[in-house]
Amino acid sequence: MSIEALSGKVFLVVTGASRGIGRQIAITFGSLLQEGSHILLLARNLNDLKEVAKNIPSKVTVHTVSIDLGEAKVTKTDFEETILGCLNGTTRDAFDRVVVVHNVGTIGDVTKFVNEMVDIDVWNQFYTLNLFLPTILNAVIMNLFDNSTNTKKVVINITSLFAIQANMACGYYCSAKAAREMYFKVFALENPDVNVLSYAPGPVDTDMFQTVRGMIANPESRKTFEHLRETNTVLTTEQTVNRLVEILKEHKYNAGDHVDYYDN
Ligand SMILES: NC(=O)c1ccc[n+]([C@@H]2O[C@H](COP(=O)([O-])OP(=O)(O)OC[C@H]3O[C@@H](n4cnc5c(N)ncnc54)[C@H](OP(=O)(O)O)[C@@H]3O)[C@@H](O)[C@H]2O)c1
Repeated sequence: MSIEALSGKVFLVVTGASRGIGRQIAITFGSLLQEGSHILLLARNLNDLKEVAKNIPSKVTVHTVSIDLGEAKVTKTDFEETILGCLNGTTRDAFDRVVVVHNVGTIGDVTKFVNEMVDIDVWNQFYTLNLFLPTILNAVIMNLFDNSTNTKKVVINITSLFAIQANMACGYYCSAKAAREMYFKVFALENPDVNVLSYAPGPVDTDMFQTVRGMIANPESRKTFEHLRETNTVLTTEQTVNRLVEILKEHKYNAGDHVDYYDN
């Protein structure tokens, strides 16, 4: 299958790649990449990242790096060193395309309603992982692969229906997903040469989905999640990532658009 967004020699970065949707993005995209491409997989659990790497064809070089993206002390320099470390022996302009998938995300404490969310440290940690560090990582990659390298750029933000639809007991999650989506809309305006997509993957059977289903404070939401499970309408990671590939292939969206699994 020929997909322009993944064609040529690619440098692919996937955050939150050890489990769930990020794991599947790494495996599916990895199977579509040309020989000589590199993939950088980021998450905390190095063993899981290495297991993911085993599922990627050997013609692609995979780098696995353990990093806690919820740590405010992670800096621009840490990201630069990580990426330059992977490029050791390869020049940046050896790549036709850099593809960044900002997949990492956490749901936050869904046992709390907004009037109970009064601890600034909790807000800071949540926003560090879900907004601040993704923006810094993105800027670092854009600056490393600036116009002097002639590398085409694709940025995929894994968003959620909850970025555009409020849900009770999801104050942390909804607000950060909305902010992250708007950040990438501004990024798209300022960088018209970049292919930017915010993809909402639908309800997907991952650890995050199980946490929300089991813990969410609002009984109505709990019923909705339970209903999805009982009716077998929760998606597999393969289903949602195959849909993402189709959306990239068709490329009917404008830069920065929110596109959902269920959109036509
Ligand atoms: N599942 C759904 O129904 C659903 C629906 C809409 C949107 N989404 C979005 O899809 C994306 C992926 O969600 P998912 O369901 O696949 O989640 P998941 O199964 O919980 O996986 C989360 C991934 O993020 C990594 N991660 C978590 N905390 C981290 C930290 N502090 N530092 C570095 N990495 C960290 C985890 O790896 P380690 O534990 O190894 O660090 C894991 O690889 C998220 O952005 C989520 O908002 C999911």
